[in-house]
Amino acid sequence: MSTAKNQFKRITTHRLQEMKATGEKISMLTAYDYSMAKIIDGAGIDILLVGDSASNVMAGNETTLPITLDHMIWHAQAVVRAVSRALVVVDVPFGSYQGNSSEALRSSIRIMKESGAHAVKMEGGLEVKESIERVLRAGIPVMGHLGLTPQSIYKFGTYTVRAKEKEEAEKLKSDALLLEEIGCFSIVLEKIPSSLAANVSNLIRIPTIGIGAGNRTDGQVLVMHDMLGITQDFKPRFLRQYADLNKVIGDAVEHYIKDVKGGEFPSEEESY
Ligand code: KIV
Repeated sequence: MSTAKNQFKRITTHRLQEMKATGEKISMLTAYDYSMAKIIDGAGIDILLVGDSASNVMAGNETTLPITLDHMIWHAQAVVRAVSRALVVVDVPFGSYQGNSSEALRSSIRIMKESGAHAVKMEGGLEVKESIERVLRAGIPVMGHLGLTPQSIYKFGTYTVRAKEKEEAEKLKSDALLLEEIGCFSIVLEKIPSSLAANVSNLIRIPTIGIGAGNRTDGQVLVMHDMLGITQDFKPRFLRQYADLNKVIGDAVEHYIKDVKGGEFPSEEESY
């Protein structure tokens, strides 16, 4: 099939498995609103994650914990409306799946039914096995998330690299094998040593998507506001900034204010 045709073929979980098998890297970014999702999908991204990082970058919270299921569904609806090619994955937010598999199922069904998204993502391994299994049994594709799992930030205490010690690395490997075995279609590996991420990526057949996990995962994800340089105060080592939208937007707004104050906007041509 030609590349042009491939560009317009919808990305499915099955297609992601093929990409891993053929060594084609998977691109993933977060999105939370219609306008940005339309641009990113049009550029050809493979996966759009409606991340609970919306809590940080959209609402200004310090952690991902405050965002609710209703908020996530609202963001997901906007993203789904914009997308014609990417697979849309939605984070199940903190407090709506951890304790109880029935709640996990109810939350995931609400996300799928009310937003039209294609899959959900949940953080953790063995601790949330029953929740993930129950959701998978309902036919909902699940992406796992291991390593630094921001919903557990108060347990970790810091955002530093996870699984540097042997015991935690072994647990991460066994969690990855478990998530594969129960039927997850992919796993995000966040902020772990690149050698461990490479090891896990070789160990399992489902694709791994890294963030701060080196170059030997099957794909990469970044938070859109960070890679576009909209956020200014978050500059971890793993982040590559592809644009400086903070400056572009700031300059444009200053220019606009100057024109308004100086009576230079609108011009005759811009008036009726
Ligand atoms: O919510 C989010 O943005 C995420 C990514 C960091 C993977 O989970």
